[in-house]
Amino acid sequence: MRKYIVTPSEGPSPFRSSSFRIVALFASCFVISGVTMMILSGYHSLNLLSHQIKQTVANERDEALSGAGIKDVSHLEPVMSQLVRNEPAFYYLLQNAQEHVVVANMFHLRPIPGWRTLSWTHRSLPPDHRPVIGYGLSLQDGGYLFVGIDAEPAQTLRRDLWFMWGWSTIGFIFIGVAGGFILSWLVLGKIEAISQTARDIMSGDMSRRLPLNATDDEFDHLAVSLNAMLERNEALVTSIRQVTDDIAHDMRRPLAHLGQHLEDLSEVSLPPAGTEALSQARDSLDEALEIFSSLLKLAQIEADDRAPDSQTLDVQDLLVTISDLYRPILEDRNQGLDLSMPSLTMHLDGNRVLLTQMLANLLENATNHCPAGSRITLSASALPTTVTVVVSDNGPGIPAHERERVFDKMVRLDRSRSVPGTGLGLSMVRAIVRLHGGQIRLLDNEPGLRCEIDFPRISDVTS
Ligand SMILES: Nc1ncnc2c1ncn2[C@@H]1O[C@H](COP(=O)(O)OP(=O)(O)OP(=O)(O)O)[C@@H](O)[C@H]1O
Ligand SMILES: [Mg+2]
Repeated sequence: MRKYIVTPSEGPSPFRSSSFRIVALFASCFVISGVTMMILSGYHSLNLLSHQIKQTVANERDEALSGAGIKDVSHLEPVMSQLVRNEPAFYYLLQNAQEHVVVANMFHLRPIPGWRTLSWTHRSLPPDHRPVIGYGLSLQDGGYLFVGIDAEPAQTLRRDLWFMWGWSTIGFIFIGVAGGFILSWLVLGKIEAISQTARDIMSGDMSRRLPLNATDDEFDHLAVSLNAMLERNEALVTSIRQVTDDIAHDMRRPLAHLGQHLEDLSEVSLPPAGTEALSQARDSLDEALEIFSSLLKLAQIEADDRAPDSQTLDVQDLLVTISDLYRPILEDRNQGLDLSMPSLTMHLDGNRVLLTQMLANLLENATNHCPAGSRITLSASALPTTVTVVVSDNGPGIPAHERERVFDKMVRLDRSRSVPGTGLGLSMVRAIVRLHGGQIRLLDNEPGLRCEIDFPRISDVTS
């Protein structure tokens, strides 16, 4: 079976996070659309105002020309004189062919025809340099007529628009980033809930289900589908477990009978080949019985939610007891056992029998899978909320890509085939660790295997 182990990448760049991308995308779309709308509506208002100003100037010019009848200086002169007197809001200039001013409320201009924008005129002296927009017309007799109006409103509007665009861009960025954060919080929060549930299920709690928000959105639909899948998986796993447990349970009786029959047979005198075959049959039977009893024990541990008969245990005491038990066995195999512990007291809540079994499995692994002459170390350390127990050796170790797989039931590395064993030892270790709310890691001891187990620490124990 192929395994996919997801490990979070080390030191993830904040720019690669989904949160950053959602914020960046939302803020960019919001700012671009908002600013574009502002610019378009601003330009539209500006154009409308310019058009109105030009229309006013064109009306005034046409009125002057129709009042004169003929487009020359002599006919326009009386009309323009009257306009200069009566219409102070407009700028008028009538020049003859020699570019001499005939009638005007402004100074001389070069006779350029068409629409003109003057940055200021002599009529509006500093500090009041007001701009003028107007229309220049070449007359039939070589003269020149200019009619203009104050362009300050258009300039003010342009200035105000720049000011408004600047501030609204800042506002759009602020709202866009805040909106992006809220959006990412809403979306990623739901995704994180799914991840958390997946992590809980992976750490053994098959009963966990995804929460529903009653919003009937896509996330709810996804949660319903995933929950249905989890329901089915749990049912399948339970039924497989049940079948395994039943087989292990039901096979024990016929196997025990078989053992009894073999025992009876040993009392009958057999030829040497028969005695040899009988001894091999007994060994195989013992192995089968051991597998069944380990499977049953494991099934029982996995079925529990919490460690049964939990009590406060002194970690030092636990380690000293097990090392006293195993030191002679290891010495017989020419292996050494070191015990290293800090002087502070460390307590944890747990089942003494199960935790002793866990340490025994790890020590047996170290002694069985390491050659003679190896050194095995049992140690413990503590942080304010955690007690860490370490069993390490300087043997062949377990390759990194096998360190997750060896926890599976009946998995043994090829090189261990010659060593007796069932491949259930580490499965049981992990089940016991989980039952105590702990975490287990297999690491490289350079050389050898280092097994670290964290348990929740109990502080302030009064004895
Ligand atoms: N300390 C170790 N050094 C090297 N390899 C190890 C060590 N501990 C475990 N292994 C490898 O991991 C495999 C699985 O270990 P596990 O304890 O589950 O089974 P086992 O030791 O083979 O059998 P048993 O069920 O009797 O414990 C072993 O077969 C061995 O290949
Ligand atoms: Mg083992």
